[in-house]
Amino acid sequence: MLKSLLLGMSRMPVVKKVVVAFPLTRRVVDRFVAGETLEECLNVTKALVSSGLLVSIDYLGEDTTTATQADRVTDSYVDLLNRLGAEGLTDSVEVSIKLSALGSLLKGGYEVALDNARVICARAERVGTTVTVDMEDHSTTDATLRTVHTLRAQYPWVGAVLQSMLYRTTTDCANHDDAGSRIRLCKGAYAEPTDVAHKAKSAVDRNYRRCATVLLQGEGRPMFATHDSAMIDHVLSEASRLDRRIDSYELQMLLGIRSDEQQRLAALGHPVRVYVPFGTDWYAYFMRRLAERPANVVFLLRALFQRPRRAQVQSGF
Ligand code: FDA
Repeated sequence: MLKSLLLGMSRMPVVKKVVVAFPLTRRVVDRFVAGETLEECLNVTKALVSSGLLVSIDYLGEDTTTATQADRVTDSYVDLLNRLGAEGLTDSVEVSIKLSALGSLLKGGYEVALDNARVICARAERVGTTVTVDMEDHSTTDATLRTVHTLRAQYPWVGAVLQSMLYRTTTDCANHDDAGSRIRLCKGAYAEPTDVAHKAKSAVDRNYRRCATVLLQGEGRPMFATHDSAMIDHVLSEASRLDRRIDSYELQMLLGIRSDEQQRLAALGHPVRVYVPFGTDWYAYFMRRLAERPANVVFLLRALFQRPRRAQVQSGF
């Protein structure tokens, strides 16, 4: 109920105005977002890389409404990739993109987004890193996978995201397990109708396990994006049963969530990648993080109503 409410609010411009304008929201946002500027993001990224983690950077934005805005997002990614190249970070750091930020919702949108994604992929190739295309709500799944397929003809290392909450995902995993494919498996962060998606956590988790096994049986490089210890345990035991080399798949988590666990798994030798969002357009991303865990809402309310001096972000809220 609270989850649906928060996900609904993530798409309401009026609520966005109120939440974004309230100065104390920032200190909670800071836990999940690596700042509003490229410099702030690079500082966070460098700290993660020097502690042995890999990173995927997301320049925040979605539901772009003009071609100019889509071009601006594309240019920001090009600037980001240039900096990653100049700073020698491309062995450890890639980027994640959202097609709706690149113009997919405009008229003829998927062509616009594809052209913009091509510009980003060309720059990524030039500086020596990869791009993963985030998955948005279920109405975009087919078009997103088609776009990734087209991009992969020229850039075979382009990755895609699949969501275990969708009924279709086991089949999608089986169709995307070829050599060279990079599938990031997550549970799914959007409010979806019951005709396309599992609602119960137990069903989403059961499908996650099934999909993880399908990907590990394939020839690609799966990327398991979850903070759920039960999912991670399943991945590790299936990887061992299937004789998967430890460096032939990745574990991935979001910035600010289970940071100790990220470090623990990396110390055991697992490639662990942290998804690092930055930029001024953090509202929808932030609301989805609140929706994932009711305790985050309690923490936000506490931060909003406490005296500024006492309201500190605690790890593990
Ligand atoms: P689950 O939600 O069951 O949480 C398991 C445990 O993790 C919780 O008990 C808690 O301890 C911790 N946890 C999870 N979320 C938390 C939060 N917000 N705050 C604090 N603790 C939290 N989704 C999507 O639809 N499209 C996409 O492209 C992506 N991309 C993506 C990339 C990466 C690298 C990650 C890690 C995740 C995504 N997601 C996503 C989000 C994903 O679908 C999902 O919503 C979250 O990862 C939460 O699901 P968990 O698997 O962590 O399990």
